Formats: sequence, structure tokens, C-alpha cells
Amino acid sequence: MNTIEPLIFELSRPGRRGFSLPAPDVPDVPDAGAGAEAGSAIDHSPGHAVGADTAVDPGPAAWLPAGRLRAEPPALPEVAEVDVVRHFTRLSQLNHAVDTGFYPLGSCTMKYSPRVNEDAARLPGFAGLHPHAPDDLAQGALQLMWELARYLAEIGGMDRVTLQPAAGAHGELVGMLVIRAYHEQRGERRGKVLVPDSAHGTNPATARMCGFDVVTVRSDDRGGVDLGDLERVLDGDVAALMLTNPNTLGLFDENIHLIARLVHDAGGLLYYDGANANAILGVSRPGDMGFDVVHFNLHKTFSTPHGGGGPGAGAVGVKPALAPFLPAPLVERAPDGRFFLQDNLPLSIGRVHAFHGNFAVLVRAYTYIRMLGPEGLRRVGENAVLNANYLLRRLWLPPADDLLPADRGGSPDDRADGDGEQGDPGPVRGGDDRDRRAGPHRAGEGPGRPLYDGGGAPGRGAGGAAPGAVLARRRR
Ligand SMILES: Cc1ncc(COP(=O)(O)O)c(C=O)c1O
Repeated sequence: MNTIEPLIFELSRPGRRGFSLPAPDVPDVPDAGAGAEAGSAIDHSPGHAVGADTAVDPGPAAWLPAGRLRAEPPALPEVAEVDVVRHFTRLSQLNHAVDTGFYPLGSCTMKYSPRVNEDAARLPGFAGLHPHAPDDLAQGALQLMWELARYLAEIGGMDRVTLQPAAGAHGELVGMLVIRAYHEQRGERRGKVLVPDSAHGTNPATARMCGFDVVTVRSDDRGGVDLGDLERVLDGDVAALMLTNPNTLGLFDENIHLIARLVHDAGGLLYYDGANANAILGVSRPGDMGFDVVHFNLHKTFSTPHGGGGPGAGAVGVKPALAPFLPAPLVERAPDGRFFLQDNLPLSIGRVHAFHGNFAVLVRAYTYIRMLGPEGLRRVGENAVLNANYLLRRLWLPPADDLLPADRGGSPDDRADGDGEQGDPGPVRGGDDRDRRAGPHRAGEGPGRPLYDGGGAPGRGAGGAAPGAVLARRRR
């Protein structure tokens, strides 16, 4: 649209109306204001229903001091119905919307938010449910949250999930408070959090907010964590490493198992920032990579239009050892099948959101996951990677070619790494099946069919893969 829409006040024309009412079929009543000014005999005492003994509503003049009353009516725009409809329709079309084009914003909106999820979120049983409704009257909503938490646990390779956080950054805060509580409960006061130089800004900000000192870890020439630099900064004071994988450059860290082993050996934990999880959906799982805590930006990965602020949800999943510290309450299912809110969590970091988080976002995420199923989620992951590589090729900027080897996004002609192949499909990777083979999986525990097949022993550490083997598989 090329023209700037005028203000509705500028569209105003004296005498225009947006409605027309039929002529009244009851007698006129006297002017209420006049009666009040003259000291009306109407009884305004509390408890006396106005209108009970007279049809005259005294109006504001009987209730408000004269100095508070307008002398003139407010200057509201006078517009016809079509003026109003067309004005607001034109304004709505000034917004960029999924109905009119591709979302150009950041990862928040670089996914499809199907309209059917909006319908689900507006179902009266969800939208009209009072947040104070007792558990017995909210079984459907509780079941949805319980099942969603199980799905997310399975997708992330985690054990328990809280749905309370309202955004990705809020999820980070919760995750890092949980990590701090975990160390403190073991009698350790660890003071440092490691953050790669490629990290999103919320990571160091969160660590700082939780009282940690932030130590930056350099990236290597392939865009991943520099292992030498990691070893240099790792010591017994490290509480955690925060990592996004694929990282903010869109590069999957090929050494993730080795990184996990190094951090765990130093007594630290691994935090997975799941803002880029679209790329690994159904393909690999943070829990299998060795992460202990993960947040998912539900508004990014599992639909909900989000550009411009909110609402969002930053569900946080944790491995078993961290579950006691999650925010209370958690939704539980009793042996008789009833769902209830479990508040009795003595080690919990406490509540982090009023009621149950942004519930309508949870409904959308649940609908999206149920609609796609395991195969659909995997296709999302594969297409996210394919689309990212497609865009990379379309946006190819020669000066950036030299920054990375050919198989990580550098020029196809760049043979600096020894075997870069002309026309190599590109750098953005979502991990692979080896991550899925190694980690914890609780087949049959989910609400219905498990989202993934597979198995392996639960446990901390590098998901069972020997670091040497991982390194040997590096595409050099
Ligand atoms: C990598 C990464 N981490 C964290 C966040 C923060 O997420 P949110 O905007 O939901 O707070 C973002 C947001 O863009 C992100 O890209």
C-alpha cells in the first residue's frame, strides 16, 4: 500500500453515524439531567435500585460533582459504518501477515503458524476457562498440559518439563536458576557460565542475571566451539555451558558429544538454547547430544504468530537429576487417571508465572504437534535445513566465502580444508540419527504413541558416543 491511511478523526464528517436504530416504540421519558439538577426526589441511597420506582435513569449528573462533568460532548469521529470497516481493514493490511507473504523477521517467525491452531486456542472450553477453576472442572486443560509436557520431553530427550516460562529468555532464566539450585543442593557454589562467542545475547544476559560470571569461548575455523579454548577455560568453578545447536550462524556443532563429555567431566552441566530447534526436530535430540536442560521457544518451533512481541512460551525440559528444582506446580496424573496440579515440590525454584503460563500458546503448540505427528515433525526439521541452505545459496555473499570451509558455508571453490567439493549442498545441518540412537527414551510412557522409536540407556554424559569416534566422523 502506497498511501498513508488518514486518522479516523480526519475521515469524520458532521452528522455521519455508524448505526441507525429504529424509532422507539415506547414513550419518551423526561430529561434525567434536568431532574437531578433540580434536586430530584429519586432515592440514590445504597441498596435502593434506581429505576425500581421510576423509569428515569438520573444519569451522571446525579452522581458526579458538577466540576467533573463535561460541558460539551466529546469530539468523537462521526463516520459511517463503511468508513469504519474500510478504515480498520486498510490498517490491518498495513501489517505484514502470513496471509500476504513470507515472514521476514528473525527465527521467531520463520515458520508456519497454521490457522487451525488459532481455532483450537479459541475453543470456548479453553479460551473461557477461568484460571482459578478447580482441578475437577479443568481436566481437559490439565490433560493438554500434561500431554504437551510429555511430548516436549520426548522431542528434547528430557525427563520432566515445565510449561510456565513466557518466552525463550524466560526459559533460559528458569533453566539457569534450576542449574544453580542443583549445584547449591550438592553444596557447590560454582561461579562461572561458559558462553560461545556465537551465542545469542540472551544467553550471557541470563547467566549474569543468575549471578554467574560469563566466560566467552571462542569459535573454531569451522564455526563450532573451539575445543582448545573450551579446555583452557574449563575448571571446577564452571556451573554450565550454554549452547545453541545449530548455533546462531546456522552451524551444527560437530563436536557436541565431545563438548558434553568435557563439560560433564569438569562437573558442569549443559544448557541447550532451543531457539533454533526447528533444524533438529525429529532428527536429533538435545538430551541425546548430552544436554541436561533445554528450553523450547514454543512460539518459534511449534507455531503461534509472534513477531512484534508476544505472546510466547519457553517450556523448559530437564534430565531426572534436575527435575526436583523445576517451578511448581507441575501437572501430574493420579493413579485413577485424574489430572491435578502438584504444588508439593520442596526443592522447586518456585513459581515463575501467574497461573500456568501463556495457556493459549500451549494449546497452539499441542495442536501443531498432534497435527504433524512424528513423521511430520521430522519433515519440518528436514525442510528447515533445506530452506536455510536454499536461502544461503540465494544470498551468497562473496566476502563471506573465506570465513568458513566449503562444507560449512564457504565458497564451493574454497579448497582450504582439503576436500571442499564444488556444489556441496551447504552448511546448515540439523544433526543426524547418531544423536537419536544413543540417548534416553521412554517408549510407551507418552500420552499415546511415542513420537520416536529407539532406545538406549538414560544417563548423563555424551550420549554414549566416544569422543574419538565423533572426531573421526568430522568432515575434514
Ligand atoms: C538463539 C536464541 N536464544 C534465545 C532467544 C530468546 O527468545 P525469546 O525472544 O522468546 O525470549 C532468541 C530469540 O530470538 C534466540 O534466537
